[in-house]
This record gives sequence, structure tokens and C-alpha cells, in this order.
Amino acid sequence: MADHVRSYVVADLPGDGIGPEVVAVARDLVDAAGSRFGFTVDWQHCPLGAEYYLRTGEVLPGAEFDRLRKTDAILLGAVGSPSVPPGVLERGLLLRLRFELDLYINLRPARLRPGVVSHGAGALDTVVVRENTEGLYAGAGGTVHKGTAFETATEESLNTRAGVERCLRYAAGLARRRAGKMTLVHKTNVLVHAGDLWQRVAREVADAEGVALDYAHVDAACLYLVDDPGRFDVIVTDNLFGDIISDLGAALTGGLGLSPSGNLNPDKTGPSMFEPVHGSAPDIAGTGKASPAAAVLSAALMLDHLGEPEAAAALDGAVDAVLGAGGQDTTAGWAKALATELAAAEVTR
Ligand SMILES: NC(=O)c1ccc[n+]([C@@H]2O[C@H](COP(=O)([O-])OP(=O)(O)OC[C@H]3O[C@@H](n4cnc5c(N)ncnc54)[C@H](O)[C@@H]3O)[C@@H](O)[C@H]2O)c1
Repeated sequence: MADHVRSYVVADLPGDGIGPEVVAVARDLVDAAGSRFGFTVDWQHCPLGAEYYLRTGEVLPGAEFDRLRKTDAILLGAVGSPSVPPGVLERGLLLRLRFELDLYINLRPARLRPGVVSHGAGALDTVVVRENTEGLYAGAGGTVHKGTAFETATEESLNTRAGVERCLRYAAGLARRRAGKMTLVHKTNVLVHAGDLWQRVAREVADAEGVALDYAHVDAACLYLVDDPGRFDVIVTDNLFGDIISDLGAALTGGLGLSPSGNLNPDKTGPSMFEPVHGSAPDIAGTGKASPAAAVLSAALMLDHLGEPEAAAALDGAVDAVLGAGGQDTTAGWAKALATELAAAEVTR
């Protein structure tokens, strides 16, 4: 045990449906990793989500937001219910947290894990670094002449030099820690204005950071991800393209049930948020069948971000070990098997 015990304040935002079931497993594993690797987590329960909205009429009250802002990280399960209209929680909670906490990187690792069958031509091992606050998702645009034959709807893609550069800098830093190369994915032959900005800044950042730079148009990138996955390591791209290709990466590496994500504020001026990519799965909530793998992998990303790489690797390795042994059919089975694997992980610090 280390002399000085490191400590983190983490908001536990389990949400709805299977969210609380999978987050409970992830929390227990984080605590177990803390005992092994010498840190503690002060969990702050945050009751937001569909159930909270239906009960109180509020999505993200100021006092809850202030509590979230003061944490080191947020571990989210999933929010959503058939009783809440689409968009209420997405815009009022998830997108608000993304914009107001300046979570400008969406991180989506996609690695073919042991025991998982590939749908592609080989084993994909990539991290999609998606710009998370600009592009077509910035909210610029509108509708005029609504309800007439000339109704016109526009969505504008906003790309600032500063926003593009900070995303590319994060991706280049990650590339330096991995294989030393990043691939810019865009559509520069058609989206010539935004494409030119992304391409120029990518060249500058790659040169400054000493990483190799490759490029693929987004349509070709989809094809290569399936046909020639070995050509990718770190992929950096804008908000919309990243949203789409990261789901393709998930589909090629075992589906959404194995897919973790991080919404990062790399400058650490506030908490970053980590969540499994799957939703609240109301169809299986309460049946004990939810797989906590993606939530545990999201907790591993969180530990890495907090500065606990050995604990992060131990959680990630435990998921690999359980999958390699054939996986588990129940949440409880997963929890037990993961705890056993984690207990066997070596402590190197
Ligand atoms: N970030 C989020 O919080 C988030 C993301 C996606 C969907 N949602 C919300 O979740 C609700 C359900 O959405 P959906 O059905 O489209 O997507 P979903 O991901 O919840 O479920 C899709 C299918 O995958 C299965 N599944 C998902 N996660 C699983 C797991 N961990 N283990 C085993 N099976 C799993 C479900 O049973 C379902 O059959 C909706 O209200 C939606 O808005 C929330």
C-alpha cells in the first residue's frame, strides 16, 4: 500500500433501466482496484435521469449541476425511458453537460477482444477521437417558412481554429503514447472550407508533435474499417463523422454492449464524463441479464484519465479475461468473474 493514499471525488450518475445495475458492478470494481492500487473514491450519488424528470419535472437543476462541476469525474450509466419524449434528456442533460463542462473530446476505443468474433477482415484496434462541441452539433441553423411548401431547414457546421486545434492536439498526444500515427477522417473533397481548416491544422499539429499523419475520406474510412482495419490506430475527426464511424468501430468489435466512451475535458478545468455507449435497455431492466462490461470499460477509461493507469489496465484486463473464458450470461455472473480476475491482477507500483 502506498504511503499517501490518493483520493478522487466521482459522481455516480446511474440513470435509468439497466444503468444502476451496470454502474453498481463498475463501482465495486473501482473500489476493489482502489484497495489494490492505493487510492480511494468518494462516490457522490446523483439521481438524475428519466425517473427523476418524471418525478420532479426537472432535467438538470442548478444545485445538481453545481455538485457535478465540483467532482473529479462523472460515471454515467444510461438515461432514458419510453415515457420521456426523445430529446428531453439528450439535450437537457447529456448535451448540456458536454457543452457547459467543455467536454471537447469524445473518446471511443474499439478493440477486438479475446473470444469476440470479428465481422471485419481482421482485428480492429483503434481509438476514435471525435470533436465533441462543434461541427453540425453546435446548434447553428434554423427553420424558416415553416409549414409551407418552401419550408427551409438549415444546420450549419461550425469549425473554429481553436476547437479543431485542441482536438488534434489531444489526438496527437494519444498517438504519441500509442503507435505514433493518426489518421484524419473528413470529406475534404466536398466540404472544402471545413476540410481545408482540419487538414492544414492537422499537418501543423502532427509536425509539431512528431507523429505521422494519414488521411481518409469518411466514406472510404468506413470501407477500410471493415476491409483493412490494420491501417488505423488513432482516428481523429469531426463531430458528425466521429459519431457515425465510432458506432461502426463498435459493431466490428462486439457491439454496443462492449463499447465504452469518455467525454473528456483534457485540460481538467472540470470533470470528464464516462459512460457505456449502450442505452438504458428497458426491455431487459430488472431481469439480471445486463452485461456490465461496457460500464466497467468506461470506468477503466475514467481511472486512466484520473491518473491511475495500472488500475485502469487491471479493469480492462479483467474484462478481456472474462470474455476470453466465454463471457457470462448474467450481471451477477459478470460481477463475480470480474472480481476474481481483478483480485489476480498484479500490483506493479
Ligand atoms: N447515453 C445514454 O444514456 C443513452 C444512449 C442510447 C440510448 N439511450 C436511451 O436508452 C433507451 C433505450 O434505447 P435503445 O433500446 O435504443 O438502446 P439500448 O442500447 O438501451 O438497447 C438496445 C438493445 O441492446 C440491448 N442491450 C443494451 N445494453 C445492454 C447490456 N449492457 N447488456 C445486454 N444487452 C444490452 C437491449 O436489451 C436492447 O435489446 C432510450 O430511452 C434511449 O433514449 C440512452
